[in-house]
Amino acid sequence: MTAIGRVFKSAAFRLSLAYLLIFMTIAGLAILFIFSRTNSLLTEQVMQTIGAEVKGLREQYRVGGVGLLKSTIDGRSLRPGSNMYYLSDRRGVRIAGNLNRIPAALTDQAGGGLFRYTRISHKGSEKRQAVGIVLQVTPDVRLIVGRDIEDQVSFTKSSRRIFIWGFSLLALVGVAGGFLVSRHILGRIETVNAAAQTIMAGDLSGRIPVKGSGDELDRLSENLNAMLERIEQLMNGLREVSDNIAHDLKTPLSRLRNRVEGALRDSQGESHYRDVLERTIEESDELIKTFNALLSIARLEAGAVAKEFQSVSLEEILSDVAELYEPLVEDEGKSIKLSVESDATVFGDRQLIGQALANLVENALKYGTQGGTSDKTPGKGDADIRILLKQAGAFAEIHVVDRGPGIPASERARVLKRFVRLEDSRSMPGSGLGLSLVAAVARLHGGEVRLDDAKPGLEVVLAIPLEHDMANNGKHGNR
Ligand SMILES: Nc1ncnc2c1ncn2[C@@H]1O[C@H](COP(=O)(O)OP(=O)(O)OP(=O)(O)O)[C@@H](O)[C@H]1O
Ligand SMILES: [Mg+2]
Repeated sequence: MTAIGRVFKSAAFRLSLAYLLIFMTIAGLAILFIFSRTNSLLTEQVMQTIGAEVKGLREQYRVGGVGLLKSTIDGRSLRPGSNMYYLSDRRGVRIAGNLNRIPAALTDQAGGGLFRYTRISHKGSEKRQAVGIVLQVTPDVRLIVGRDIEDQVSFTKSSRRIFIWGFSLLALVGVAGGFLVSRHILGRIETVNAAAQTIMAGDLSGRIPVKGSGDELDRLSENLNAMLERIEQLMNGLREVSDNIAHDLKTPLSRLRNRVEGALRDSQGESHYRDVLERTIEESDELIKTFNALLSIARLEAGAVAKEFQSVSLEEILSDVAELYEPLVEDEGKSIKLSVESDATVFGDRQLIGQALANLVENALKYGTQGGTSDKTPGKGDADIRILLKQAGAFAEIHVVDRGPGIPASERARVLKRFVRLEDSRSMPGSGLGLSLVAAVARLHGGEVRLDDAKPGLEVVLAIPLEHDMANNGKHGNR
């Protein structure tokens, strides 16, 4: 289809055409109505004037007979103006009046009607339109009173001309305007289409150009771009998960398989089998845990749990987790302490926040308290693991602080990725998914995770927007 053909077929053009049609019909009807009303009003007025005149003349006849009628008409005929008279006898010969003959149109028309006459002036003669009333004064005497309506007729004609021209011009401008507007809109929609085609062809990083005018097409493009961004993110997430499964889960599975195979091959008796089977079960459990963690993170990143969001008090979650871990920490000869500077309510998922916090406490216990019993360095607080709740601007911040070796600044971004474990901690059990889950939970809540140096030790900060702030910030509201 040609570009012009496309414009003609576009919804915008059809709509503007339909609008133009309706507008012109209504405007046309209104103008026609006003037109015919004015016309009939003017005609009525003329007829009334002549009627009144005829009535007056009839009165003259009643009082003074044909003689007075004749002299009155003679008098009036001399007055300048548009009135015309013709008083005739039985044979039709003029007795008085300013018309030189009975207009042909009125000869056999009782009552009156339209007629044409010739007016002679200094400019020459001209044919003019008039309206007249015929009155049979006596069986012999007949009177015709007429009035020139040429001006009214030509006014009507010229208004009709103006009307037709004006309307044609309006229609032309309307169609041209509709065409231009449609072509403009179509042009912009075509850019969206072109971008969509590029993206469909496989380039998920393609985006729709935004003009920056902030109009509805721009907003549409922006929303489509945001949608594409999200799709790209999800696709990348999916790719990462499958990569993770391929690389990080394949190795332990192969290890498992090889161990069982080795045991079968070497067959060193029942107790050896039992040992191998027990270790297989243990490792399978680990694998299942890893799988579950991986799936939870993938689900979180897809935003699949946001529907269960509600108002939650962080203080409650924190004290629950602290209480849960206290015996475990004390068993290891360490201490844990919770301090709440100010309670904070956030809009979120209680269980996920609890899980994230548990992961942080577990890490603090695993990596942050290495090296014997707690040394009570003055000024560093009295507990090995400290949990802090405070507010910072529009965010509630959960700090989990330990006294361990910490994480070097260069590694802090990396450890938040899936399956990343630092060299020093390889000897500890774990799959490297704990912090990824914390980061995913933070992202889901519209917050973030920061890793800081607690000198010594690691300070992990989980920041979540406060609830009243969430209400103002639709972005994180109902994903
Ligand atoms: N408090 C900490 N102090 C020092 N290093 C830490 C601390 N927390 C985490 N790390 C380092 O970051 C790595 C990633 O932690 P993460 O919690 O993601 O995985 P993990 O603890 O190894 O395994 P998982 O939590 O899945 O059982 C850890 O392996 C460890 O090297
Ligand atoms: Mg961990």
